[in-house]
Amino acid sequence: MSIAYRPTLPRPEAFRALFATTGWDAGRPLTPERAAAALAGTRHAVAAYDGDRLVGFGRVIGDGVLHALLADVIVDPAYQRAGIGSEIVGRLVEHCRQEAVMDVQLFCARGKRPFYERLGFLARDDEAPGMELGV
Ligand SMILES: CC(C)(COP(=O)(O)OP(=O)(O)OC[C@H]1O[C@@H](n2cnc3c(N)ncnc32)[C@H](O)[C@@H]1OP(=O)(O)O)[C@@H](O)C(=O)NCCC(=O)NCCS
Repeated sequence: MSIAYRPTLPRPEAFRALFATTGWDAGRPLTPERAAAALAGTRHAVAAYDGDRLVGFGRVIGDGVLHALLADVIVDPAYQRAGIGSEIVGRLVEHCRQEAVMDVQLFCARGKRPFYERLGFLARDDEAPGMELGV
């Protein structure tokens, strides 16, 4: 399997299809317009292709100085456990290092803690947790 990694945004339609594999859009469908608007807010992207098929993606949302948030790290289920997700995160983190941002953050999806711990991420301390407001 030869996977090509590109630092470019995928077509919104391909992103939507990959996003749908996660079930994250349940109850709030990602329309083509919303997908395009979301991608437009990307600071840095890594897209993985098998030929012209988008099989993995991840992006950085941030200001390039203080904060970077890794988001939408997704590998097509048919391509998982082959190192693609690790390669994507590694490339995103390298970009953040080059920008010398103050921190690199992410929200870990249920059950994915071992994946991120293997890549060096640590859960925040209970006294200083990440927090979110459901909207
Ligand atoms: C999380 C995800 C991106 C991992 O991508 P991947 O290409 O399968 O990951 P890798 O092959 O690079 O995995 C490297 C290691 O991470 C760990 N890992 C990967 N997926 C894991 C999982 N689902 N559960 C536990 N550990 C996992 C394993 O140690 C794995 O090594 P191994 O296969 O030799 O055991 C992929 O499972 C995915 O897209 N899931 C759905 C979307 C999602 O939850 N994204 C994370 C958002 S925070």
